[in-house]
Amino acid sequence: MSTQKSTEKTTDPLVVFTPSGKRGHFAVGTPILTAARQLGVDLDSVCGGRGICSKCQITPSYGEFPKHGVTVADTALSEWNAVEQRYDDKRGLPKGRRLGCQATVQGDVVIDVPPESQVHKQVVRKRAEARDIVMNPTVRLYYIEVQEPDMHEPTGDLERMQAALKAQWGLDVSRAHPNVLKELQPALRKGGWKVTVAVHDGGRETARPSIMQVWPGYYEGTIYGLAVDLGSTTIAAHLCDLQSGEVVASSGLMNPQIRFGEDLMSRVSYSMMNAGGADEMTEAVRDGMNALFTQIAAEAEINKTLIMDCVFVCNPVMHHLFLGIDPFELGQAPFALATSSALRLEARDLDLALHPSAQVYFLPCIAGHVGADAAAVALSEAPDKSEDLVLVVDVGTNAEILLGNKDKVLACSSPTGPAFEGAQITSGQRAAPGAIERVEIDPASKEPRFQVIGSDLWSDDPGFEASIATTGITGICGSGIIEAVAEMRMAGILDASGLIGSAAQVGSVRCIEDGRTHSYLMWDGSATGGPTITVTNPDIRAIQMAKAALYSGARLLMDKFGVDTVDRVVLAGAFGAHISPKHAMVLGMIPDCDIAKVTSAGNAAGTGARIALLNADARSEIEATVQQILKIETAVEPRFQEHFVNASAIPNAVEPFPILAGIVTLPDVSFNAGGDGGGRRRRRG
Ligand code: FES
Repeated sequence: MSTQKSTEKTTDPLVVFTPSGKRGHFAVGTPILTAARQLGVDLDSVCGGRGICSKCQITPSYGEFPKHGVTVADTALSEWNAVEQRYDDKRGLPKGRRLGCQATVQGDVVIDVPPESQVHKQVVRKRAEARDIVMNPTVRLYYIEVQEPDMHEPTGDLERMQAALKAQWGLDVSRAHPNVLKELQPALRKGGWKVTVAVHDGGRETARPSIMQVWPGYYEGTIYGLAVDLGSTTIAAHLCDLQSGEVVASSGLMNPQIRFGEDLMSRVSYSMMNAGGADEMTEAVRDGMNALFTQIAAEAEINKTLIMDCVFVCNPVMHHLFLGIDPFELGQAPFALATSSALRLEARDLDLALHPSAQVYFLPCIAGHVGADAAAVALSEAPDKSEDLVLVVDVGTNAEILLGNKDKVLACSSPTGPAFEGAQITSGQRAAPGAIERVEIDPASKEPRFQVIGSDLWSDDPGFEASIATTGITGICGSGIIEAVAEMRMAGILDASGLIGSAAQVGSVRCIEDGRTHSYLMWDGSATGGPTITVTNPDIRAIQMAKAALYSGARLLMDKFGVDTVDRVVLAGAFGAHISPKHAMVLGMIPDCDIAKVTSAGNAAGTGARIALLNADARSEIEATVQQILKIETAVEPRFQEHFVNASAIPNAVEPFPILAGIVTLPDVSFNAGGDGGGRRRRRG
């Protein structure tokens, strides 16, 4: 789409910008940056056209352009000038590039604005279905030339800086942070009354910007922001360049609060049972956060004081504890949050050692059990913009579930417990080298083959032993246990009620007696001093409870939406990234759906945090979206219990799962106590 805009006579040269297609006539001698500004073309500048920052690079094209109706002569732009030469000598300009503030219009011309020269450049996300992030950070750099002091017109240095920002950038800056008052006088004098300032936009449309830092002259460096996903088990942070949007380092740390309790509720009870318990946990998480920030800054080899903005996403309990709020109320109905709104604070309010006036933003919480992390998932996956009905599940110790489309979005959380992370499973472990992560069981021989983290080979491939020589086979991780249980069900080792058959019933010596139930022997490493890895009936129970909790949450939302099916399923969370959709469906973890429509979003909460960090508008957008999301409290919904009981069967006692039935035939076996030893009886119901 081209925008026709005449700023001068039509006899003046025509300037066409690509890729925007914006065009207009400009008088000979007009700098390209000025033409771009007048047409609203997105061309960056930090130095305000003084030939210092090189952010305004453009590529002119010469020759015939029938599409644009122009012929561009070699003389269409002014000649390469001394400022461009100086910049090229010092830093090097890519071939064919000019500085938009130096090159002036001499004739009709076609100008390409490369992506890195756009202010609102897009940060490309890897997944095809993901929206790109448009750069619009809350902290930006501006280069200004400030009037020198004059005894006859006494004004403060700050006030003259404010006047320069107003005159040169149209910025109405209301205040300077306390650190700025200390640094501005030496910076102004050192820079010869030319300085670069970092300005925070104030955080809301109605707020006025403020100055966060002053550097003498043109500041050549970068400023950074952090997108942090504060989980109950781990804290993960992305360090981003606030100008390019690039992730320069990512790092993680175990949440030090783990010593107060593995899961959320045990931390809430710790605060209830111990005077000062909540404060201890606040201190622990803040210390952990500072340690993580030191670690990530060291990895990126930057100074922590260059980190000027942070976005946090977390579940409600983590949110309260990090903010220093006792999470007591979240442990009991009606699960009231101290505040559900988005929060704008400064890093020092949370004892975080970053830039002295670093800004902090918390996404809003959706409900007492559905936190800012779910809001971040909603921002990243945008169910509210989806044409089809999408179920988004963030799988963790607490599953946070969103169901919706552009008409409405519902949300709930469901207590899945830690079984999906390999905890409370006999041979379970966290996903780490040596853990079994993929499983296949031959339905005829009942023999397993598997893959472990750290090797691409299957256990029956030649060379497997050598490939795992350093890691060994140490246990089963969350995705491994899901595949194991589903494969056992598909191979007829496990019945719909969740019972493992005996050796005689199944016809495999791998089914071994284990007290009053049976276990399936996956791997016996005892001959070489290694572990014996089994799947026991209590393991199956733990997985049944977890998957039933997840499914019934989703099913409850489907009831409320008035549907029996969903169009697609998005699995979010690090764990979601590794779940095999087919196996998840065999277990009945997720509703029956076309397998091709079950996708993984990776760490969607972390991505949502990154979007909010890099784009100020996304913050207001998610604040408005969260207001519209309908919250469902599973704990008080009678149908939740009914769904839970039905979903305890594998895949489900009442739901038909027709799409699954089309691709997998589940053996009709039953291993109830008192079985006949022959093993194959009709399943009841
Ligand atoms: Fe800074 Fe052109 S605008 S070099």
